[in-house]
Amino acid sequence: MADEAVDREATRRRFINWFLGTSAGAFLLSVLYPVGRYLIPPAVGESTAGTVTLAIKPDDVKPNTGQIFKFGSRPGILVRTAQGELKAFSAVCTHLSCTVQYRSDISHIWCACHNGHYDLNGKNIEGPPPRPLDAYVANARGNQIVVSKGA
Ligand code: FES
Repeated sequence: MADEAVDREATRRRFINWFLGTSAGAFLLSVLYPVGRYLIPPAVGESTAGTVTLAIKPDDVKPNTGQIFKFGSRPGILVRTAQGELKAFSAVCTHLSCTVQYRSDISHIWCACHNGHYDLNGKNIEGPPPRPLDAYVANARGNQIVVSKGA
């Protein structure tokens, strides 16, 4: 009778140890996995597309305006200067990666996040951006606009 009680106690103790051990392990895994996923971001490479044909038609881009387009997985910005020249840049701000926009009132490419300014050559001229925007080559071919990363 006493042996049976000892066996039952040992079995219950083993079960509790197993249960607590696996619960602690599951809890640790449920905490560490998301933290690990946050700290090690997935490998999302830059677009491999070297050239894109835009859905925007050349006549849709009036002088002194700009439009955002998709260059692979990242945004680009197409600008037609007041003189009529087409220019294209990466629209990813070199400060903290906000998407820039064109401001017709000052004829600058502008980042609203921290008031960063770029001129129409993509050069950072005011605010926190540390370097110019990546420049692309924009060409109107017939009724299409083709943007490429250039040489
Ligand atoms: S992210 Fe563009 S100025 Fe800060």
